[in-house]
Amino acid sequence: MTPPPIVAIDGPSGAGKSTVAKALAARLHVPYIDTGAMYRAIGLAARERGITLPLAKADADRVAALAESLSLDLDVTGGQTRVRLNGRDITDAIRLPEISLYASAVSAIPAVRRRLVAEQRRLAGRAGGVLEGRDIGTRVFPDTPHKFFLTAPLDVRAERRSRELAARGTPQPEEVVRAEIERRDHDDSTRSDSPLTFDESYTLIDTGRRPVNEIVVELEERIEKMRGQVLT
Ligand code: DC
Repeated sequence: MTPPPIVAIDGPSGAGKSTVAKALAARLHVPYIDTGAMYRAIGLAARERGITLPLAKADADRVAALAESLSLDLDVTGGQTRVRLNGRDITDAIRLPEISLYASAVSAIPAVRRRLVAEQRRLAGRAGGVLEGRDIGTRVFPDTPHKFFLTAPLDVRAERRSRELAARGTPQPEEVVRAEIERRDHDDSTRSDSPLTFDESYTLIDTGRRPVNEIVVELEERIEKMRGQVLT
């Protein structure tokens, strides 16, 4: 039997990664693994300890120690990655807009990345998975043949994120959302450890003007073709 696939879905904020990755995981019958949720968990823990942004050097050391000592449980058996921090379910708390910036800030700390990358490899090592993040195809699973880089124009991404936040009951003015996305785009792609980037081993997908279903079907077809299976 062919082992279950490991699929990398990387790209900037608001590119539609979650929607596509969830649907794809369901079709491939593998877990959907939201790696951003893990960085968000460390970000939340940092904020709850009174650490402020931008991170000072001493704070980065504190966060690194925190990342080593925290107990992080991830349940990827449902359609969503449920996260528990020291036993407390923080799945909803990590979605607050402020935590996006904390997640981005702590994700630049190498010790944080080391711990979480190990966790991601362990999780997908069991039953495969569709992993959504920034460095899945470059760092976490560089050898997988299934790599997709999703992107869309900034306006489209900001509008999507605004709609998402409103639907969650935490609406934000569009210019605030746009500024947050631009800030994260910059920080996530310029950090020195595992920056957001892609190379020719990825298939580039512009999600700006295409329906999600069509994209999911294209990805599934590419994956199945690569695995040498006939679609039923
Ligand atoms: O995908 P997201 O918006 O939930 O991710 C939150 C932050 O976490 C993002 O700004 C950068 C960081 N992140 C990362 O560095 N590497 C990943 N694989 C996933 C997320």
